Amino acid sequence: MHQVKLAENIYYLGFNDRRTHLFENIWPIPHGISYNSYLIVDEKIALVDTVGQHFIDDYFQKIENIIGNRKIDYLIINHMEPDHSGAIKPIIARYPEITLVGNKKTFGFVESFYLKPENTFEVYDNAALDLGKNKLQFQMIPMVHWPETMVTFEETNKILFSGDAFGSYGTLDGGIFDDEINLNFYEVEVMRYFTNIVGKYCPHTRRAMKKLEPLDIKMIAATHGPVWRSDLNWVLSRYEKWSSYTTDSGVVIVYGSMYGNTQKMAEVIARQLAERGIKNIRVYDSSKTHLSYIINDIFKYKGFIVGSCAYNNALFPNIEILLSTIEHIAPKGHLLGIFGNYSWNGGGVKNLMKFAEKIKWDLVYGPIEEKGALKVDKYEECIKLADAMAVKLLEM
Ligand code: FEO
Repeated sequence: MHQVKLAENIYYLGFNDRRTHLFENIWPIPHGISYNSYLIVDEKIALVDTVGQHFIDDYFQKIENIIGNRKIDYLIINHMEPDHSGAIKPIIARYPEITLVGNKKTFGFVESFYLKPENTFEVYDNAALDLGKNKLQFQMIPMVHWPETMVTFEETNKILFSGDAFGSYGTLDGGIFDDEINLNFYEVEVMRYFTNIVGKYCPHTRRAMKKLEPLDIKMIAATHGPVWRSDLNWVLSRYEKWSSYTTDSGVVIVYGSMYGNTQKMAEVIARQLAERGIKNIRVYDSSKTHLSYIINDIFKYKGFIVGSCAYNNALFPNIEILLSTIEHIAPKGHLLGIFGNYSWNGGGVKNLMKFAEKIKWDLVYGPIEEKGALKVDKYEECIKLADAMAVKLLEM
């Protein structure tokens, strides 16, 4: 069978998943996802991360096509989330003498998820592992995006096995390496993977990037998406921007509306923003667009304007979920606008203001709360909110 190589003796062992609808059972993956594992065949053989358990038969087949009856000496566990660690137990069953390579935290996770590991080799910052021609070194990058996360740097070919960092949603449809692919396809999927999965840990990501800077990296082999070998800056510059919460001039408007009155306020605000020269305006109905895409756009644009009708004296449920997810991920440095509808006893705007207090973004105007249909005075207030937002954005 045809084998894909990163270097003369380093193999790609990934799989495409076009069946799963929701990654982590939360995030939509309409274009699927790849799970990438790698095999280094030297005097000693090392497997770098694994794949989900459901690929196990084909995974063993791929491994045996490369190494035949030889044994795998090391399993390097850069990250323990089950999309990569799922094959650990069957791997140990097939290669009982295998040594698991991980850090202090890794082995505790192996025990809690699968079994108590017997043969282990504990690594730490700058620890080395000699496979023969290929020398490996390890760097800990905790919380990118689990506590045990680390990377493995293969010094001979200068390949960074980066775990989830620099990964992407989207399957690898033939092309495995960045130079084999029109990257326009991955523009959204790399960012959405970052903002949905890693985005909570921007400060940790920045620390990790700083730490990895001295390495002379020629190739980045992540556990999802393309292998970066021709233009590493494509993904590195984007990570630099997103992890520093750098946004463009623009506004995301999201609303929860039952009968269209809150939506009308959103439309007025959006139109006024456009009249004031703001060109990046995205308006979302929280009942239609999954929060994965809304959060992604929040990482793109400086302005965030949210509206909610009152629903049983509380927020519209989809807005409530969106806002609690935003609080959890906690992106920084946004401009905020708030509007909504009182319905019969309020609860929408009141709770949006609680969000404003917690998130501590710059509230540019308001809040605005209408009762029922949009009338002239609150229409004028919507115009003022849009103007206040536009003034701040045009200063950028
Ligand atoms: Fe792809 Fe955090 O697992």
